[in-house]
Amino acid sequence: MTDRTTDDLTRSSPQYLSLHGRHSSVVLEFAANEAPLWRYWGPRLADHTAPPSSSRRVRPAPPASLEFDQPLSIAPTFGMGWFGRAALLAHRSGEHFSQQWQSCTFEFDAAPPNAQCLTFTLGDAVAALSLIVTLRLDAASDVLTIQSSLRNDGKSILDLQWLAAATLALPDHCRNVQYFTGEWANEFQPETQTLSRAGWHRENLRGRTSHDCFPGAMILCDGTSDHAGHVYGAHLGWSGNHAQYIEWQHDGGYQWQLGEWLAPGEVRLAPGETLASPIAFAAFSPNGLNGLAQCFHTGVRAILPWPNQAMSPRRVHLNTWEAVYFAHDGADLAALATSAAELGVERFVLDDGWFHGREGDRAGLGDWWADERKYPDGMLPLAKHIEACGMSFGLWVEPEMVNADSDLYRAHPDWALQLDGRPLLTGRHQLVLDISRADVAEYLFTRLQSLLTSLPIAYVKWDMNRDLAGAGSNGRAAYRRHVFALYKLLARLRAAHPALEIESCASGGGRIDYGILGHTHRVWASDCNDALARVGIQRGALRWLPPEIIGAHVGSVPSHTTGRSQSLAFRAAVALSGHFGLEMDVRKLSLDERAELTQWIALYKRLRHELHQSTVWQGNAGDGVVWQAHGTTTSLILLVYRLTPTAQRWVPRIRLPMLDVEREYIVERIDPNAHLGPSLPYASNALNPVNNTARGDWLVNDGIASPRMLAETALVLRIAIPQ
Ligand code: DGJ
Repeated sequence: MTDRTTDDLTRSSPQYLSLHGRHSSVVLEFAANEAPLWRYWGPRLADHTAPPSSSRRVRPAPPASLEFDQPLSIAPTFGMGWFGRAALLAHRSGEHFSQQWQSCTFEFDAAPPNAQCLTFTLGDAVAALSLIVTLRLDAASDVLTIQSSLRNDGKSILDLQWLAAATLALPDHCRNVQYFTGEWANEFQPETQTLSRAGWHRENLRGRTSHDCFPGAMILCDGTSDHAGHVYGAHLGWSGNHAQYIEWQHDGGYQWQLGEWLAPGEVRLAPGETLASPIAFAAFSPNGLNGLAQCFHTGVRAILPWPNQAMSPRRVHLNTWEAVYFAHDGADLAALATSAAELGVERFVLDDGWFHGREGDRAGLGDWWADERKYPDGMLPLAKHIEACGMSFGLWVEPEMVNADSDLYRAHPDWALQLDGRPLLTGRHQLVLDISRADVAEYLFTRLQSLLTSLPIAYVKWDMNRDLAGAGSNGRAAYRRHVFALYKLLARLRAAHPALEIESCASGGGRIDYGILGHTHRVWASDCNDALARVGIQRGALRWLPPEIIGAHVGSVPSHTTGRSQSLAFRAAVALSGHFGLEMDVRKLSLDERAELTQWIALYKRLRHELHQSTVWQGNAGDGVVWQAHGTTTSLILLVYRLTPTAQRWVPRIRLPMLDVEREYIVERIDPNAHLGPSLPYASNALNPVNNTARGDWLVNDGIASPRMLAETALVLRIAIPQ
């Protein structure tokens, strides 16, 4: 037995290890006999700034404390002087319930201050464990990625209950946590809660990322707004069960852990076996919520697996779901395709309803070949027609699922995830396949491969329409195995078809996270095409995702999910915010509507290179007017949405803090026909946005006074320095 007191650790002089981004820095305190301590995460420090003294020197032991002081480390453990939440909860048949890292080495990827990556190897000889924690602070994005890998070095099985992917330190001026919740057809709804000693936590046990518990949050400090102030964000790149905990610390700060939520017995590490956590993505910005979103946009753009490593212009989609639902008929769909192409549509995505026995949502899943009644000659004639119309062909699938009423299930009832002695719980009348089984994965790959080789499929919409419940495989929990098997299947398909683009959909936005984005190229943010609701959903999604991958469709009226109706102009202007598409039977439009929609599609095509892969700012002008700007500080596309009727006599100003105060800008309205209300006279010093010029300092400090607009109307402006 050895004594460990704080004196021992204060006597040894620690080393300070730093990583620097453009706007942020991380500083850790290293000693060879313990886990690195968190010293700093916040605004960029000078390259060689280090703390003036060690952690324990600046916090003398308070009364009623242990002689040994354990500050927050990057991997706190239970039972040896740390009384907060541990990053690791594990035991061996009830023994070795406590851990303590006694050895630590580190490696930089380059000599500081140029290093971007720090890898720590921690060891606990008593518990026979080692842990590798990798921290990478990307200088281009300020995104800090952290991953933890635990190895069982012992001779017996290690039962693991929790392994945080990351343990982050938040300073004491953090005030509020903003997180995203919601429901089917109403995803990405922000909620804000004041941080306190009671802490904050979110757990998702639905087996997929979920509609209601997005695996990320933002921490706002005093005075943080869209445009200014300190803000921290973190997200777990994982498409299954997950948990986050923010815990108050006795120095007034907080620790924030993110990781996979493990079912009982789900992870039992055999001797020599390693568990690697998902990757946690975190960022600090001194520039408010927009600054943080810009960090994440850059970070996500770096992981998106575009064919040939480059995004091609995001094609205008027509998705058939709300146009025909399950009522597929080859000739009818060909006519729909012709009509869509005339409007300027560039990709025709054939949604649910095409495969064997799929008369409704009770049958067919698993039987991935064309329905013989609906497509007596197969789908090739339709696909060829779509191509002949100048569009590419996309196909919907939901490979992880099976209906009891399917040939597949009749042949292989044992292929569904299930628990012995328990009833099979269905969701949307379907069961989940145990895709971690080699035979099941092989069946799905073969079926998909046969579709991809026999049809000119350029795009797959990969759906997943139920939560995992009773996800047992041979009596063991199979939630995480399912996610790994999904990633593996996607990777295998992409390797076989490198040009293929894939959309992640799960009853709308039920599987949107940076894990799935390592394998896919677009997300379906929501099944709600009601433009008014969609503004909020997309604004929430934009906090985490760049606009070019957020699917946004113009739906028909009344909206199929809310029963409300908005003008075509408003619906189109809202879809302009993301990856633009249509989801309606365009043959039912009047000639005037077709002419108007054609203009919006043409506008999207003209603007997409500026709307996408550029910087995005969001703002709230008050009085029901919100806006977002895409572009650069020299040329912006400004989307203005009035959501509610005005409650003011004169409209609020839209201040654009990102503009150059020294330069002159031209402001012009560029939308074809936004249905504005009657223009009223307004203050004489207000800028008329129609073909006007103004200096940047005016637009930054006084702003644009938009015309008086009716509720649920939009305005598209270009604000640019003349060439
Ligand atoms: C749920 C998706 O979110 C919809 O877009 C559509 O693809 C349906 N599934 C089809 O079943």
